[in-house]
Amino acid sequence: MKILIKNIKELLQTRATSIDMISGSDMKILPKIDDAFLLIEDELILDYGSMADCPKEDDSIQEVIDAQGCVVLPTWVDSHTHLVYAGNRTLEFVDRINGLSYEEIFNRGGGILNSAKKLQETSEADLYEQSKVRVEEVIAQGTGAVEIKSGYGLTVDAELKMLRVIKRLKENYPIAIKATFLGAHAFPSEYKDNHTAYIDLIVNEMIPAIAKENLAEYIDAFLETGYFSVEETERIMEAGKQYGLRAKIHVNQFTAINGIAACVKHDALSVDHLEIVTDEDIEVLKNSKTMPVALPTCSFFISIPYTPAKKMLAAGLPLALASDSNPGTTPSGNMNFVVATACIKMKLTPEEAINAATINGAYAMGVSATHGSITKGKKASVIITKPLHSFYEIPYAFASNPIGTVILNGQIQPYKN
Ligand code: NIG
Ligand code: FE
Repeated sequence: MKILIKNIKELLQTRATSIDMISGSDMKILPKIDDAFLLIEDELILDYGSMADCPKEDDSIQEVIDAQGCVVLPTWVDSHTHLVYAGNRTLEFVDRINGLSYEEIFNRGGGILNSAKKLQETSEADLYEQSKVRVEEVIAQGTGAVEIKSGYGLTVDAELKMLRVIKRLKENYPIAIKATFLGAHAFPSEYKDNHTAYIDLIVNEMIPAIAKENLAEYIDAFLETGYFSVEETERIMEAGKQYGLRAKIHVNQFTAINGIAACVKHDALSVDHLEIVTDEDIEVLKNSKTMPVALPTCSFFISIPYTPAKKMLAAGLPLALASDSNPGTTPSGNMNFVVATACIKMKLTPEEAINAATINGAYAMGVSATHGSITKGKKASVIITKPLHSFYEIPYAFASNPIGTVILNGQIQPYKN
C-alpha cells in the first residue's frame, strides 16, 4: 500500500540520515523542504523531496493526499506522561485556585496519594477504559509515540495493574508506547516513617514481578525534597539496572539537591522537570548521554518556574519537551500546547521547540531509530496540519487546533479532537 502526500507547503524535520539528538545552537536549525512530497509504503517512509521530483501518480500508488497549504511534520514524541490514571483531581485544582500549594495539598493526603487511592479502587478493565480515551485524544492531537509511567498504584498489585493496562494499550493502538515503572512516586502513608521498608518492597517484590512479565522498559523515581532522597533514588536506579530497566528520573521540580549528578552517574536516559537548575547541574549534564526534559505545561498549570531552557542551550546542552500529562500537575497531553508554551514562556524559537518535541523526545524515550524525523525507513507517522501561513502558526495560534490528519505507521487515524 502506497500513499503519496503532494503539494506540501513545508515538510519539516527532514533528515537524510537519522541522528540521535540535537544540542545547543544546532537546535536553532530545523531542516525543511518547501513545496514537497512524501511517499509512504506500508508503515514506512519510502521517499520525500521537492515537488519537482514527485513520483508519477500511477497504479502503484493507492492513495493521493493533496496537502496544498499544509505543513507536514513527524508526529510528536511525548517522552514523559502519566496517561494511565483513575478519576481526576478537579477538587484539588479548585483548592489551588483558592490558595493552597501543591505541597500543602500533598501534606494533607491529597496529590499522588489521592490518585493512588482512586486507582487501587478501580478495576483493571475500568482503568483501561478511562485511559484509552486519553490515548485516542493525544493521537488526535498529533502524538505518535508516548512514554507512560506507572506510579499511582504504590502496592505490588496496583502497580502491576497499571503496567498491564499500559501493555494492553500498546497492543491495541498504533501509537508507539514505552512503559516506565514509577513505584517510587511517593511513600504510601503506612511507610511514611519507614522508607526502607517501602524501598525494600520496590526492590525485592515489585521490580522482579514486573521483569518477570516484561512490563516495563524504564524505571523512574520522584527525586525531590519530601519524596525520594538522592540515596534512596540511587538504590532504586541500581536495582532497576540489574533487570535491564534504564533510569528516567523526575528531578529538580521544586528543589536542587544534587540529584542530577546522581542520575548522570547512573547513566539515566533522561532527567525530567528541571524547573530549578543550578550551574553545577548544567556542568554535570555536559558531555553526558542523559537528555534533559522540560515540561512547560506543568509549570503553566501549577504556576512554578519554567525550566531555564535558553541558559541550558547556551551551555551547549540538548533539550527535549514532553507533556507530563497527569491528573495533578498537568491534565493535558496536548503537545501542540507544549510547543506553544515552550516558545511563549521559555522563549524557545519554533525551530528549537519542534526539534525538542520530535528528535530529542525520541532520544528521551529510546525510539530514535523509528520516530522523530522524516527519514527514509522510519515509521510513516506524520501530522498533516490544517492550512497554515507557516509552521510558526503552530505555537503562535496557541489555542487553535493545528491538526488536520494524523497518520501513524502509514495508517490514517480516525480519532478527532
Ligand atoms: O510529574 N512530580 C511528580 N509527579 C507528577 C505529578 C504527580 C501528581 O501530582 O499526580 C509530575 O508532575
Ligand atoms: Fe511526571
